[in-house]
Formats: sequence, C-alpha cells, structure tokens
Amino acid sequence: MPSSIAWWRHAVVYQVYLRSFADGNADGTGDIAGLRSRLPYLRDLGVDAVWVNPWYASPLKDGGYDVSDYRTINPDFGTLSEATEMITEANGLGLRVLVDLVPNHTSSEHVWFQEALRSPSGSPERARYHFLPGRGAEGVEPPNDWVSVFGGSAWTRLPDGEWYLHLFDPTQPDLNWGNADVRAEFRDILRFWLDRGASGFRVDVAHGLIKHPEYPDVGVVEEMLSMPRDVDDHPFWNRDEIHDVVKEWRSILDDYPGSVMVAEAWVADWDRLALYLRPDEYHQVFNFHFLLSPWDRESMQESIAAALDASSEVGALPTWVLSNHDVVRHATRYGLPQDFDSRSWLLDGDRALLDAGLGSRRAKAATLLMLALPGSAYLYQGEELGLPEVFDLPIEVLDDPVWEKSGHSLKGRDGSRVPIPWTRGGASLGFGDDGAWLPQPEGWGELSVETQTNVEGSSLEFYRNALQVRSQILGDGTVEWLDMGPSVLAFRRGRGTTVVNFGPDPVEIPAGEVLTSSSDLVGGLLPPDATVWIIGH
Ligand code: NOJ
Repeated sequence: MPSSIAWWRHAVVYQVYLRSFADGNADGTGDIAGLRSRLPYLRDLGVDAVWVNPWYASPLKDGGYDVSDYRTINPDFGTLSEATEMITEANGLGLRVLVDLVPNHTSSEHVWFQEALRSPSGSPERARYHFLPGRGAEGVEPPNDWVSVFGGSAWTRLPDGEWYLHLFDPTQPDLNWGNADVRAEFRDILRFWLDRGASGFRVDVAHGLIKHPEYPDVGVVEEMLSMPRDVDDHPFWNRDEIHDVVKEWRSILDDYPGSVMVAEAWVADWDRLALYLRPDEYHQVFNFHFLLSPWDRESMQESIAAALDASSEVGALPTWVLSNHDVVRHATRYGLPQDFDSRSWLLDGDRALLDAGLGSRRAKAATLLMLALPGSAYLYQGEELGLPEVFDLPIEVLDDPVWEKSGHSLKGRDGSRVPIPWTRGGASLGFGDDGAWLPQPEGWGELSVETQTNVEGSSLEFYRNALQVRSQILGDGTVEWLDMGPSVLAFRRGRGTTVVNFGPDPVEIPAGEVLTSSSDLVGGLLPPDATVWIIGH
C-alpha cells in the first residue's frame, strides 16, 4: 500500500462500474468476486486506486444509486465480508479503494422511507425527507416547479395527499440534510467504511444536499443531465450550507490518515467550485469542465488554465476525467462533430456523423494530455481498451431510468455501461461464464484484454506504457505554457514537454527524447489529433 498520506494528489484512480466489470458467479451481473479476480490486472495496468460504484443493498432502479442499506452489500454483488476481503487484497497489491457515498437520497425501499410512508404528516419519520402539501385545489399540484434531473416533476404524491421530493427518480427520495438523524447516520456510515479499510469516498450529487427551506419555484426549466445553472441562492443546487456538512465529514476523514473524498459537484463557476476544495473540505472535486470541453485548442487550454488557477487559489490540485458511467464515452464523443449533443445523437442521430477512427485518435491524445497535467486523473473501466459507446443497444434492454423519465427523448447512459470484454471469444467474452446483463456488440472481442495484451500499438499497451512512464513527464514543476501556434497546445513541466496537435497538419516538436505518443510520429512530425511526451535536456 502506498505509504504517503498525500498519495492521492497525483494518483490515477480507476472507476469500476461493478455490474459491468467482471462476473464471478455466472449470473450475468458483475460482482465483487469478479473484481477480486481482476485486481492483478489493475495493478499491472499501473493505477493507484479503484473507485467502486455503489455496491450496497439496492433495488437497482438507478444502477445502485438508490441505496436501501448503506451497510450491506447487494446480494447480486456479494457479501460484506467479500467486500472487506476485496479491500484488504487490493491494499495488499498497492491499490487503494474508494467507496461511492450516496448522501443526497436513499432508495424508496430504505427502512427510513418505509417508516416515513407509514407515519403521519409532520412526524419525525417524515422530517428525514422532504414532505410537503401540494398546491392548488386540494393540493393536487406539486409544491413547486422543480424538475427531476431525469425528467418530469421532482415531486411524487402519496395516497394520503402529501408530496415528497426526488431530484432523480421517484424511487430516490431526497434526504433532508437539515435533520439531525440524517447528519448522524452519515457520520456513522463514513466510519463504517473507513473502519473496513476504505481509503475514502466518491460523493454523489455533492452539490445538491441542501434545499432552500422555503422551497421557492425555480422559474425556469432546467436542462436534464447537464451542468446546472449556477446562480446565487439556487433553491437546490450548490447552496452555501453544504459546506458545513462537508466540514463535518472532513473532520472524520482526518481521523484516518491517507483517506480522501472526491466530490461529484456539477458547479459551473470555478471560483464557487473551488470552495469545495478548501483545506478543511474535500480533497478533490471532479473537473467536468475539462470533460465537457470540445476538441479544440482554445477551449481545452482555457478549461485547463481555469482549473489550475482556481485550485491553486485554495492550495489544491485539480482532477481530470474524460469518461464515466454517466456520459458518452470519449472515444465516441470526439468522433462526433464538436459542440454537438452526443446524448441526443444516441437515440436517433445520423450515424454517418460518427468518425470512429478520428474519435479513437483524439481519445488517446486527450488521455495523454490529461495524464500529463498536475493533479489526479480518473479513468473509467474499458477506456484503456479504447471502448466506444455502444449506441445501438436495442430499446428493450435499456435499464437506465432516463429512458422512461425523459419521455423516450433520451436513450440514457446504458451505452457506456456494457460489460467489458476480457477475452476474444467465449460466453460474454470473458466477462463471466454465462451471459451479460447488457448485450455486448459484434466485434467487441477484438477489443478485449486478451486480444490487446502484449500487442504493440494496442490501446491497452498504450495506457500501460503511459501510466508507467507518467512520473517522468509529471516532474514536479508547474505548467509553463509554450506558444507553438494557434492549433497546438504545449506546455513544459520540469524536464518534460507535452505537445497536442489540434490542427489539420503535422507539426514539429521540440528536441528531446520521445517518451510516448498517442499516434506514431511521421517523419519526426506530430500528426493531427495526437499528443507526444518529450523529455528535454
Ligand atoms: C450521479 C451518478 O453518477 C448517477 O449515475 C446517478 O444517476 C445520479 N448521481 C443520482 O444518484
């Protein structure tokens, strides 16, 4: 296990979407047994830590982000003792484990919500959630105009006439963070997992915990599944009181040296986002600005510079991420016209718009760029294989609540969650000994770990090599931008120089030893849509 307390500052964290990683018991669903069997693969890949998506008891209405018991493991995934054994084994291989904390909402099957349903209006049981009377004659209208992130009203009415709040699916009632029981419960949950060896938490919907006490109307229709509007005193996003909760959690983590929390906070304004990174708050926040940036030199550089500046203001480092289980995989995003809504394209967009080869080249170039930046990088399972989004999943297999809740206007996020291919052939391509809960597309076996291992030029070997030599390019310097023309992003850090070519023509690169590049150099020049790492003298 890495000994440094600040191990996370430049760490590479690998996101395991457990359902789709590896299936140890041939039921078609990934599980802890499968993950345990693949830990050596992750060690060999060269990552420092693993973030495991929610594995708790859950009816899986939102892939496990609907938790019915935060201290037990969903039987589909294994048992609590398997989870703790997995953590110990991972630690033994030098891998830290981050658990996914889901504090904004529980499942409607959580014992607290079930108690609330059985209890009268105004009871302490209901006070743990947000229950309100409706508006209009006999309260038949929702209490306000808030819209769920997945679509439709954020309120659902109970037979007794009261409404409850759910910023996501109706099966995910929002907790009331003004309630002392809620605060105490989560303090205990944090300790529960830290005591079992977890090195910390990825915190879900970190920007949504606190709601305006008077529940005022928002007044505008919020766009679903994207960066929320960032305004002062928004009724439910990014409210100042969130920081009191974070400080409380941080004081607990400080009792466990080396533990870390990373916020999933969709906050548009960097100065406001940086508040989450103050020394007594989160260690890290996800940097979705970088992920959302189109593939062009100016936007990328602006987003990087803004992240570096804002984090350094509070003495922190940024994080970088290009793919996760909520967004279209970057190998596909970058193959579509930029400034384009790839989520809508999934459903019925013109398939001819996709240039898959271009997407793959840009994806590798972006990865190399990300890994050269100060701070920590998050990889999403399968990106090391160059997996694209599976955009043609049949409608009948869709599992993501977004499909129904958006009134069938968005296909949802399943295309990034297809079980990953480990072998060229066989049942579910080595994912398990039987089928896979989402169908794997034709040709997926050619992208498998088996097919790519030890194959020069494969995506997997490219990632392994980049992770192995990364420490040389990181140096310890800060970023010094180099001017190499309008289409080239270049910077130096210590002895290392990173050059990214966004333009249409090959470009010259500085003298030095080429550590690695995302595409082969041609006649010593860096081709379009490629990144190179160079060590100077
Ligand atoms: C963010 C998670 O990443 C996403 O998958 C989930 O649907 C929502 N939060 C709600 O928990």
